[in-house]
Amino acid sequence: MKTKVTFIADTHHFSPTLADGGRAYQLRSGSDQKCLLETGAIIDAVFDVIAKSDTDAVMIVGDITDDGERVSHEEFREKCYKLQRSKPVYIVTATHDWCCDGNPRSFSGDTVSTDVPVVPVEELREFYRDFGIDKAKEEYITHLGEVSYVADIGENVRLLAINDDQNGKGHSGYTEAHFDWIEEQIKKAKADGKVLLAMEHHLIMPHIHPLISGHGMCVGDREYVASRLADAGLKYMFTGHSHVLRVSDFVSEKGNKIFQVNIGAAVGYPSPIVNVTVDGEDVSIETVHAPTFEYNGTQDTLKYTAKHFFEMFDRALTGAAGKDTKEFADRMDALGIDGKKAAKFHPFVKLPARYLLKVRVRGAYRLANALTLGRVIDKRDAKEFADRPVLDFIHDIMLAAVGGTPERHSADSAYCRLVKQVASIPSFFVRKNKALRELPEVAELIVTGGKYNAYKCDLK
Ligand SMILES: [Fe+2]
Ligand SMILES: [Fe+2]
Repeated sequence: MKTKVTFIADTHHFSPTLADGGRAYQLRSGSDQKCLLETGAIIDAVFDVIAKSDTDAVMIVGDITDDGERVSHEEFREKCYKLQRSKPVYIVTATHDWCCDGNPRSFSGDTVSTDVPVVPVEELREFYRDFGIDKAKEEYITHLGEVSYVADIGENVRLLAINDDQNGKGHSGYTEAHFDWIEEQIKKAKADGKVLLAMEHHLIMPHIHPLISGHGMCVGDREYVASRLADAGLKYMFTGHSHVLRVSDFVSEKGNKIFQVNIGAAVGYPSPIVNVTVDGEDVSIETVHAPTFEYNGTQDTLKYTAKHFFEMFDRALTGAAGKDTKEFADRMDALGIDGKKAAKFHPFVKLPARYLLKVRVRGAYRLANALTLGRVIDKRDAKEFADRPVLDFIHDIMLAAVGGTPERHSADSAYCRLVKQVASIPSFFVRKNKALRELPEVAELIVTGGKYNAYKCDLK
């Protein structure tokens, strides 16, 4: 008995009625890993791939809209109705669907406006009732008025859709009453002989490394949550939020293992579509992409979204390297860094930024070697990549960090060694900082891709 289902996350739809492509929009778009005006076109392409596939159901794991704008929700829901003519759609909402930061924005010329109508949190359940709740066996209304539910999505497969926006203690997660309901559903699925796939927006365990995805990325009290879920018998949790494609696992003190498949953002690199096959008791995943989308012509999805992601870094760097301090300050502001303060440092960052824009590994090696007295970087490892621009290296690591590259470097490769050596430079100067000492380990986890290959693996 085989069932195929599909998960996507963080579609962050942004209605084209909210921006005219002017300077204010360019600053906003150039400072975000994911796309904005392109989202409708990317979502159409992703939905088209799913509609034409042999999957039995589609799950969308929260952050449906950019920031809860009503017009973005309305446009997105229309796309879901269209997709639902081919495949049943199951949605769980998240904090970006009700604008939890109270800052919905539209962009016109140089101006940012915040008078954008949003869908209030208590309306979301009714708004998306045709995408999951209508097919649910049971539901639980959270204290925010959102909804968790269970539905059978295949002959032997059940979906547990959890809204984990708040745990009542200031973090994402669930209240105790909600947790009791979740635990009851896990036990019922077991009693009914169903393979249970759960989804919720926030992470239940850090991926890559806690330095990257601990704290705000995860539900509050994450070890308690992951242990309690694993001990109740849940084995598979599909999450979104971090915009990173990565598979991790957690084993409770009692020895129960739970997998977390963090899906990554549909509208940012690498725009993952995670297909899941449930064959009897066995669960495996395979990740694909929509090859192209239509936006100002036909765009290669991976190339376009990768370039958009690089721009986030490159625009900050070219801003720092440029002569215009106001432009630099504006770009810092767009990144959420205080532009006024940053402007004071502009004279000091200009030269390093210009150097970084053009330096190759050979030159960077010489400088690093001089600064660290030849103790950190191995000449042979640097030599292998001598002619590569350092900026290319940075771009590669950015892609690997969001889980976008099926190319996994082995831990004993010159590439991995070199990246780790570079990551150890800060701790050469500041030895007492624990986080800095952990950077080489983080670097290795990024470039090796970790224990599981998120493009194709068995969850066992
Ligand atoms: Fe998101
Ligand atoms: Fe999120």
